[in-house]
Amino acid sequence: MRLVLLGAPGSGKGTQAARLKEYLQVPHISTGDLLRAEVAAGSPLGLQAKEVMARGDLVSDEILLGMLRDRFSREDTRAGFILDGYPRNLAQAAALDELLASLGQKFDAAVQLTVDNEQIVERLAGRAKAEGRADDAPDSVRKRLQVYDQQTAPVIEFYRQHGQLTVVDGVGTLEAVFNRIVEAIAPEKAVG
Ligand code: AP5
Repeated sequence: MRLVLLGAPGSGKGTQAARLKEYLQVPHISTGDLLRAEVAAGSPLGLQAKEVMARGDLVSDEILLGMLRDRFSREDTRAGFILDGYPRNLAQAAALDELLASLGQKFDAAVQLTVDNEQIVERLAGRAKAEGRADDAPDSVRKRLQVYDQQTAPVIEFYRQHGQLTVVDGVGTLEAVFNRIVEAIAPEKAVG
């Protein structure tokens, strides 16, 4: 199964991807996690990304594509993947198609988790207190939601228009949301 997980910040992509990874036995590729690892390592890329991420903006398409190319060059992505956090704009959606085509692949499903903004703000405020993620500060959350509406919503619309989008209600217990996703992606279609 080659799955693209979409949804606003805090909609539960990372949480569900961790479960889906076990269920589908494919790697979870989170561009946010890849970037945070670079920041933690203090690499040149991490230094470039750190401030951009903290204020809730998007890191450059070029950096993201380089990271993704690198990740997809690894053997473990051949049988499938769960991509979380990419694409976030139309240029990235085109780059993803190109990258997958160059590997003789395309994704099987793009799943959008929907959660209203009020609940998102509540979830991320809770995580800011518990984990202290820099971009969960109220100003950054507002910015991330704005960036999502302006740049990522068009990707969702694009997938919808091309019949590639499955919308899943992201509100409820973790188990309930997980079951909805599994139902939606019909794993009998899985490859690899
Ligand atoms: P990224 O790490 O992708 O952040 P995000 O999309 O803002 O996602 P989050 O991790 O905040 O939310 P999520 O949907 O994964 O929800 P989660 O499961 O964590 O990106 C961070 C930054 O990196 C970006 O802002 C950007 O700067 C940069 N970046 C990344 N990708 C990029 C790209 N492609 N291009 C350019 N820049 C990029 O859950 C959130 C909280 O809710 C948790 O506390 C969780 O416990 C809770 N929760 C989850 N599910 C439920 C539920 N059902 N009920 C109640 N609480 C729940």
